[in-house]
Amino acid sequence: MNLRVAILISGGGSNMVTLVDSMTGDHPARPCLVLSNNADAGGLAKAAARGIPTAVVDHRPFKGDRAAFEAELLAELDKAQPDIICLAGFMRVLTGDFVQRFEGQMLNIHPSLLPKYKGLHTHARAIEAGDAEHGCTVHLVTAALDDGPILGQARVAIEPGDTPDTLAARVLEQEHLLYPRVLLDFSRQTSGNANMPPA
Ligand code: GAR
Repeated sequence: MNLRVAILISGGGSNMVTLVDSMTGDHPARPCLVLSNNADAGGLAKAAARGIPTAVVDHRPFKGDRAAFEAELLAELDKAQPDIICLAGFMRVLTGDFVQRFEGQMLNIHPSLLPKYKGLHTHARAIEAGDAEHGCTVHLVTAALDDGPILGQARVAIEPGDTPDTLAARVLEQEHLLYPRVLLDFSRQTSGNANMPPA
């Protein structure tokens, strides 16, 4: 039996696409749902084109009532019965209660070398700080924002003349390699096949 993976997005969904496309063959997991807080998220059409069920829970009518918003998210997730949840550019902060419900099952990708630059504008902050390198992190989600055990990181050199956009583009390339790799390892561990040789 394959593990079921729900992927939460807010935007273009390029990381979601790399995750979905990686879950084939003897990969122990398959996508079961792409869920967005934004009906205009470009990733929804990409998921649908790949035959993945999609759902939208717009956060705006809840006007800051995060618990009520999350109850609707939970209703969609309960229907899909995921074993693993991947946050992939999901730009809403989740409450401790929601995170606890999926403790040890929820992964996030963040565009910085955590613990540096939690939150937003990570590329600009790394350039402004004069850092020599930047990158991305996949971690388990805990109640604290962009915290939790690190499962993998990829590094990118910051070049002279880099802007937040040029740097973000190179980091995104690394995100597309890192997230599927970490999900594969995590799925193998979750399904108890951690000793299987790499595909
Ligand atoms: C990615 O760079 C991801 O790391 C970032 O949003 C982008 C989504 O792109 N996530 C965060 O900033 C979360 N705090 P995508 O929709 O093309 O995958």
